[in-house]
Amino acid sequence: MSEVQVRGLTVEYQTSAGWLPAVADASLDLRAGEITGLVGESGSGKSTLALSLLNAVPAPGRIAAGTIEVAGVGDLTRLGGKQLRKARGGAIGYVFQASQNSLNPLKTIGKQLLDLGRSHEVDDLRGLIARALDLANRMGLDGKRVLDSYQHELSGGMRQRIGIVFALVLNAKVLILDEPTTALDMLSQASVLEIVRKVHDENQLSTLIITHDIGAISEIADRLAVMYGGRIVEDGPLLDVLRRPTHPYTKALIGATARITGDIDVARALPGRPPDLTTVARVGCVFRDRCPFAVAVCAEVEPPLEAWKVGAETQPGRRRACHVDPSTVLSGTPGTPAAVGEPA
Ligand SMILES: Nc1ncnc2c1ncn2[C@@H]1O[C@H](COP(=O)(O)OP(=O)(O)OP(=O)(O)O)[C@@H](O)[C@H]1O
Ligand SMILES: [Mg+2]
Repeated sequence: MSEVQVRGLTVEYQTSAGWLPAVADASLDLRAGEITGLVGESGSGKSTLALSLLNAVPAPGRIAAGTIEVAGVGDLTRLGGKQLRKARGGAIGYVFQASQNSLNPLKTIGKQLLDLGRSHEVDDLRGLIARALDLANRMGLDGKRVLDSYQHELSGGMRQRIGIVFALVLNAKVLILDEPTTALDMLSQASVLEIVRKVHDENQLSTLIITHDIGAISEIADRLAVMYGGRIVEDGPLLDVLRRPTHPYTKALIGATARITGDIDVARALPGRPPDLTTVARVGCVFRDRCPFAVAVCAEVEPPLEAWKVGAETQPGRRRACHVDPSTVLSGTPGTPAAVGEPA
């Protein structure tokens, strides 16, 4: 069952060139018990998509189209005021990108946890603190010491783990983590992700993890979604996508993943620059300028994100947005790149 159903989501920012989409026509399901990894180069729209799942796109941004159905809550795009505040943190736990910098410097961590509980009308504040202590201890922190501390007394890595405790402490069914481990060394990254997986499994959460680290996410996620230029260009069961990437961008991304760190270094593998709001193609496929497989139609028609087939067989749970035949991308033989922009 899907805990979160995103359909036709378009999110725009106001720029000097008018309102431009940072996320265009995105559809995505977060299912109970599944961890979805969301990857893509910087500026591809990952954080914007994630923030819209809280209906919290920052100014000058707006959700221009689409629906976000959250089980037990309704369509988030239609909620406002108190209902929306309750959903944030209550139904949906969220760790913001660079959240290690978002704690209140004037209050102890424990005091901030109590504030969070009160703002969500939690009656059993003792229970909330006990749960926070347990989560913090499991994250490898000295829970009691941490709750008595101010943020300046803690390292970036400790604050990042505390961010995850805050996201989990209200028993949200949906968990969204935006680059949750960037301030951590590699060993801590692995252990924090393992704990996230454990808490996720114990509570059958629907979890979305945004990351630059395909290596780390491949250890714990069930599904993988790939974004480029504001579009989800491919998704499916994680191992299947990694083994059989059928969008040229996914293929480049996986090829560019350094073996040792797992970090994506697309710039080395793909010529050209990732698009931003003002440079992304308005007609045709957003990736065509950098795509070794592009053909004439790619300049004219935007490919929809769709299920695809090998022969007569639909590939379970897989979708791609590409005009080129999947087997051509899989076999790695680019067609006629010179045809880009030429008449068919
Ligand atoms: N507040 C804003 N105002 C205008 N444009 C914005 C704003 N926030 C993001 N953008 C633009 O929207 C696009 C998507 O940005 P977003 O932060 O969602 O990408 P991202 O995939 O999370 O990148 P990163 O990996 O660097 O975190 C980028 O082109 C970015 O410049
Ligand atoms: Mg981001």
